[in-house]
Amino acid sequence: MDKKISVSIMCVDFFKLEECIKTLEEQCIDLIHVDIMDGSLVPNFTLGTDFVKALKANTTIPLDIHLMVENPENKLDWFKFGEGDYVSVHYETAKHLHKAITAIKAKGAKAMVAINPATPICVLDDILSDIDAVLIMTVNPGFAGQKLIPSTLTKIKKLREYLDSNGFNDIEIQVDGNVSFENAKLMNEAGANIFVAGTSSVFSKDNTVEENTKCLKNIINS
Ligand code: DX5
Ligand code: ZN
Repeated sequence: MDKKISVSIMCVDFFKLEECIKTLEEQCIDLIHVDIMDGSLVPNFTLGTDFVKALKANTTIPLDIHLMVENPENKLDWFKFGEGDYVSVHYETAKHLHKAITAIKAKGAKAMVAINPATPICVLDDILSDIDAVLIMTVNPGFAGQKLIPSTLTKIKKLREYLDSNGFNDIEIQVDGNVSFENAKLMNEAGANIFVAGTSSVFSKDNTVEENTKCLKNIINS
């Protein structure tokens, strides 16, 4: 399965957004991860509908929209996305999960279900045949710069094994939260293939975005 980097754009220096998008395009970044928070599922606000619209108009990199909102099935039409993009909705807040997944796919995008660290993978059983990917939160959603919750590594491994042994080999696994260079190696070994890169890797202050990207690519492709 292809390894992909999804850069978490909430971690950018917003005064340098244009320059950063150019760098991400030059580095052939696979996806731009856009965190949408509603102050209810998670105690924070971040990016929104106009920002997604602006990104769509100004970059060719597909978007990976992470909807950390209540009742996402009623809000999908607020966002501009389509072919090539990924959209995730949380199991914990989608009362009509199947409806949300169907609506995402109807727009041509890849549909993903996100689960919080304490949510077991068994809740996904009856939706697996409808989805393209699972997003495993490896920190509690809401903020950048948190520490990995170690039990989520076992969860990634269990999910990959479960998917492969039940005929769902094509379902991708995305990991989000403290995907540092060190943790990316462990997450990769556990079976993740889409890595959300934020302050722990691509935007780490120790090096440039270019250097950090190259380093992360080497780790996940080795
Ligand atoms: C939440 C976010 C964060 C963050 C990732 O959904 O996606 O997890 O931006 O970056 P880190 O954890 O490396 O700061
Ligand atoms: Zn996210």
